[in-house]
Amino acid sequence: MSSLTINPGGHLKGAITVPGDKSITHRAIILSALAEGESAITGYCRGEDCLNTARAFRAMGIQIGEQPDRLRVSGKGLWGLTEPEQPIDCGNSGTGIRLLTGLLAGQDFFTVLTGDEFVRRRPMGRVVKPLRQMGAMIAGRKGGELAPLAVTGSRLHGIAYASPVASAQVKSSLLLAGLYAQGVTRVTEPQRSRDHTERLFRYFGIPIREEGTAVVLPGQPPGGWPGTKDLVVPGDLSAAAFFVVAATIVPGSDVTITGVGVNPTRIGLLEVLTEMGADIQILNRREEAGEPVADLRVCAASLRGIRIGAERMPQMIDEFPILCVAAALAAGDTVITGAGELRVKESDRIATMVLELGKMGAAMTELPDGLIIQGPGGQRGRQLHGAVCTSHGDHRVAMSLAIAGLVADAPTHIENTACIETSFPGFNGKLLELLTKS
Ligand code: S3P
Repeated sequence: MSSLTINPGGHLKGAITVPGDKSITHRAIILSALAEGESAITGYCRGEDCLNTARAFRAMGIQIGEQPDRLRVSGKGLWGLTEPEQPIDCGNSGTGIRLLTGLLAGQDFFTVLTGDEFVRRRPMGRVVKPLRQMGAMIAGRKGGELAPLAVTGSRLHGIAYASPVASAQVKSSLLLAGLYAQGVTRVTEPQRSRDHTERLFRYFGIPIREEGTAVVLPGQPPGGWPGTKDLVVPGDLSAAAFFVVAATIVPGSDVTITGVGVNPTRIGLLEVLTEMGADIQILNRREEAGEPVADLRVCAASLRGIRIGAERMPQMIDEFPILCVAAALAAGDTVITGAGELRVKESDRIATMVLELGKMGAAMTELPDGLIIQGPGGQRGRQLHGAVCTSHGDHRVAMSLAIAGLVADAPTHIENTACIETSFPGFNGKLLELLTKS
């Protein structure tokens, strides 16, 4: 099993790029497969999650050319997918399996969707139930709560669905099903989740409108699919987040991360860190494929604790593990509540961070829907300790512990780090690139 050892010391200096946005890459592959003709997706995320989505479309008859910086997808139109001969394996990707379930519900063929041991433990009922209301025929373990899921394509009709959770995966799954449904599909969320699907629909020319926290797809695109679109995927803010926190907590650091997506539905961590005292500049704002992009310059700064409630969670849902690291070094308490969704991510991220960062000496109290992190001082002293930790198979936990290791008093050994490949191939190399420049 792979592992990573982080030696503390030095500081981070220089400019880097990060992998393309994982959420946008999944969606770009899906939409360009449904377009007629070739689309180029430049700067795509080469993590295993997105490669599994590309493999899924190849298995459904779509040609996808793979170069290091570009995918070329030969789309076959809205009705161009063909029945795969084998079950589709979405690997570790909750986004992959949930979006594909929606897309495949309205096809004229049968599919089985599955994933790795972690995905097979994650709740699928949140997409299966509303899709069944649209007329989908989906079977699965525990009545459709767990993958594998068997999807028998059927005729769908639009629904007005009020989702109990703010989830871009649920919303996007229903919108993709809505492309094949008769009538209007409307999804309302308690708070707005990331809006990459909506932006990409618009970029491809599919009419979709927003009404408060609802999105409304008027029906099947008139006259079929509008056509191909080349696009450049911005750097993934959720990958940049590790270096934003690293540059903040390692004294003397000054790091620029170029070409990062700064979609307002994703930048919660930048806002929270800034309120905590971080020195983050958002420079050279521009736009790619309907998505805002910028360079982030981050210099080391002292942090203070903060209170974060449910209303901020959707904008920083994936950044919780790395926020815990920042909070463990901030003066005073950080209190996070309304974050129950974190228990059904790649791991139970509340439990894993309490356990693993706890091994490094962080003082944390678990709450049912969040946690309290006590900053340095008192019994704990000022530093984290080097420790032997494990990722629990969760890529973001692995990378967060690596960043924590940079400011520990001795080397930190993280076990089970192969999962980093799901979203950030080359993570350790990027870290060393910045460290060796110091
Ligand atoms: C994602 C949505 C979020 C996020 C995940 C990616 C997406 O999940 O945590 O990493 O691409 O739609 P939820 O929709 O379950 O909140």
